[in-house]
Amino acid sequence: MSFIVAIDGPAAAGKGTISKAVAAHFGFAHLDTGLLYRAVGAKVIAGAEPVAAARALDPVDLENDSLRTAAVAQAASEVAVIPDVRAALVAFQRSFAGRDGGAVLDGRDIGTVICPAADVKLFVTASPECRAERRFQELSGKGTDTTFETVLADVKERDARDHNRATAPLVPADDAVLLDTSELTAAQAIAAAIKVVAAARS
Ligand code: CDP
Repeated sequence: MSFIVAIDGPAAAGKGTISKAVAAHFGFAHLDTGLLYRAVGAKVIAGAEPVAAARALDPVDLENDSLRTAAVAQAASEVAVIPDVRAALVAFQRSFAGRDGGAVLDGRDIGTVICPAADVKLFVTASPECRAERRFQELSGKGTDTTFETVLADVKERDARDHNRATAPLVPADDAVLLDTSELTAAQAIAAAIKVVAAARS
């Protein structure tokens, strides 16, 4: 039996942490759909044409540590505005979502476009400053030489592009539960998300 949890929200709101923990708690599979766009973005940086890169994407392309850099994130948000790139990635995401045993997908348009009939929809947000601080800590921890101001500017630029694009813009689904993690620890945010999913399962 499939059971689909859609977790959407802007950059560095905590979707990844929450999604991994929810998937582990309920024994569901997890797909970070941002990695699909990051993998296409990385191929474009390497000289590929975006739509061809999206159509040729292989799951192995997602297992690449270098996809987490700020440059790849920017390239991802640029290719993500191209309707044919998005279209090329739909089937993979829907087939992952429909697998037996349950799935958590996190991204920007899971509850609105990819899985509008998902069993649970969460929209995870936090203030731009909180999100930039978290991403700054994450990148600094990995040894990346950057500043809070640079990361904040990057987050705001990607927010604007994600919100304003014509195809699958970043908006909460009408039936999504909103979770603002600005004032929450990771453990509190995870507990809140697990509660929402548990209620939908009973
Ligand atoms: O981890 P972070 O939130 O910084 O970004 P991500 O989830 O890895 O996504 C990178 C970029 O891919 C985003 O800025 C979006 O432009 C795009 N994306 C999208 O358009 N739709 C998705 N379902 C997932 C990501």
